[in-house]
Amino acid sequence: MDRNEAQRRILELRQSLQENSRRYYVDNAPVISDFEFDAQMHELERLEAEFPEFFSPDSPTQRVGSDLEGPVSGVNAEPSVRRDFVQRPHRYPMLSLGNTYSLSEIEEFAARAERTLEGRSFSYCCELKFDGTAICLTYRNGALVQALTRGDGVVGDDVTENLRRVGNVPQRLTGDYPPEFEIRGEILMPYEAFDALNREREENEDAPFANPRNAASGSLKLLDPEEVAHRGLWCTLYHIPAESIAFATHDEALKAAARWGLPVSAERRVCRNISEIKAYIEHWDGARKFLPYATDGIVIKINELDCQRALGFTAKSPRWAVAYKFKAEQALTPILSIDYQVGRTGAVTPVANLEPVPLSGTVVKRATLNNADQMALLDIREHDWVYVEKGGEIIPKITAVDLSRRSPGAQPPRFPERCPDCGTPLVRLEGEARWFCPNTDGCPMQIKGRVLHFCGRKAMNILAGDSTVEQFYEMGLVQSPADLYSLSTKQLTMLEGWKERSAQRFLESLDASRKVPFERVLFALGIRFVGETTARSLARHFGSLDAVAAATRETLLEVPDVGEVIADSIVAFFADERHRREVERLRAAGLCFSAEAPMEKASDALEGRIIVISGTFSVSRDAMKELIARNGGKNSGSVSGKTSFLLAGENPGPEKIKKCEALGIPVLGEEAFRALLPEQEERPSVSEHPQTIVEPTLF
Ligand code: IVH
Repeated sequence: MDRNEAQRRILELRQSLQENSRRYYVDNAPVISDFEFDAQMHELERLEAEFPEFFSPDSPTQRVGSDLEGPVSGVNAEPSVRRDFVQRPHRYPMLSLGNTYSLSEIEEFAARAERTLEGRSFSYCCELKFDGTAICLTYRNGALVQALTRGDGVVGDDVTENLRRVGNVPQRLTGDYPPEFEIRGEILMPYEAFDALNREREENEDAPFANPRNAASGSLKLLDPEEVAHRGLWCTLYHIPAESIAFATHDEALKAAARWGLPVSAERRVCRNISEIKAYIEHWDGARKFLPYATDGIVIKINELDCQRALGFTAKSPRWAVAYKFKAEQALTPILSIDYQVGRTGAVTPVANLEPVPLSGTVVKRATLNNADQMALLDIREHDWVYVEKGGEIIPKITAVDLSRRSPGAQPPRFPERCPDCGTPLVRLEGEARWFCPNTDGCPMQIKGRVLHFCGRKAMNILAGDSTVEQFYEMGLVQSPADLYSLSTKQLTMLEGWKERSAQRFLESLDASRKVPFERVLFALGIRFVGETTARSLARHFGSLDAVAAATRETLLEVPDVGEVIADSIVAFFADERHRREVERLRAAGLCFSAEAPMEKASDALEGRIIVISGTFSVSRDAMKELIARNGGKNSGSVSGKTSFLLAGENPGPEKIKKCEALGIPVLGEEAFRALLPEQEERPSVSEHPQTIVEPTLF
């Protein structure tokens, strides 16, 4: 790989890792598997080692993944999730662990430790790697006084009150505990509690959690500690920072912790050599399937604390521990056919249709093959039997072929030369693994893909999914996102399956999109390589779309997270006359093109409440909506089971009132509503805010 290619790949990997780290730690909704994430991290580590001139202290290889919410709240936030925990510093940084999927790297870890420890005798402590969310507890005089999440490793969210509701965490210790110490571990959601929670969420039409880890991490950040108590969380502790205790070994420290009443896993073993470590790994690779909670590997730690101190830390992880990760479960099934899907950027992705097969709790019918290179690498032939793997909530991936089941003479599938949708010859740019359809303006899949991306929840959050966008396109109503804003009730109700009500809801969501903050508008534009995180950085740096559009390559490169590939892509986007026209139409539609001063929060009085408003008030409806938002509430357009109450002014809609009656939802008048708010949110009256009007003195 030459220097330029390496630089491009490094930037691509950094961006992907940052984006996916956020999805994992903050949104609790990963879209790539852990295996894929780790593979990208390892590739980046290799490239940065080979090309040290591209070193950056901000690279994901140098930083611990952060669960802290940025100043802008996550767009798929549950209303009941708190985003404003107090953040406190960790006494000792909370690091992550180096990890590997290969036994030979575990051997290397042991050999390295032996070399550094030069003939000192030491042992290993092997433990399960619990797949939850990390926590750091402080006990003072035997009482639990603080619980912090990992955060970015330096500061964490203070979740003490929520942690007090985790069943097996003692509030008080017994025995000969030290006056003050920290202990770290993991918060887990056992499978049984996870299944029950997801059943309940589906009944309430809330999106289910992808896996117990996300559920545990989401639950720990809930607004209401009493609700946390119902989530059935569970804690296991596995690390006392060596600085804070006086034991000889890690195993002894954990034994003592168990005596003090703390939950410590009994599944750990002290191993004397690599073959005992391997036996432990082998045992748990099978036995873990019978555990009531999720584990994703084994952690191997040097047991003697003085040896741990001698080995020390890298920027990101201790040198005295390593994680061996289990590979995700696999299933074997034949390929029935291959579809070639065209995305919004024109990239063509081969997707295999499979003989349905059960895998980790769901039935898999389709799996991605990524690109032509990957197909060639796997040497896929028609009707091959393949191994599929799943991680997070994503489309499963094909990882290998079972050659013993290949029929003789089976041919490799032919990657299309023309776009399967519009017939344009495909192109492949230098340095790209994928084929592209260059017919950006005319290819229906690309057009629909762009509109769908624009409407997405993390973008403009407009109520239009696959089939609606398809319908709009087929009827010739929508060719680009800006066309959405000229749709009328009349046009909509003429469409098959649309009623007055659905049209109204759609138009309401369209109207609401005009208030979507600038950074999400920037993301919605679909500029290549500009994901959520980059859009946020750009929005903060430039403050307005006009400033982003006017930026040069050089000024773009000043933005954190923006490298050459992204900068070039942004410049190219705005250099295109068609894009500039589209942007002007979106401006005319009233979208938010600049970052406004962040709304000043007045109180948390309405935190977690979903409020529908109807009728007229003493102030404008917009002012009422702002009042709701400023006090932490959420305004919603229609009454549903999730509505907290209806705020009814004069002449409220009779349909809304009826629905509230039917669902038993309270209806509050303006006065009653204002009574919920703190004093200063009362309407300013002249006597409270006397205004001195100074008459100009005329001479
Ligand atoms: S020890 C200084 N032991 O895995 C490192 N971590 O991928 C202390 N984890 O951040 C961590 N089980 O959240 C340790 N038995 C175990 C673990 C464990 C799960 C988590 C932990 C860590 C992450 C690294």
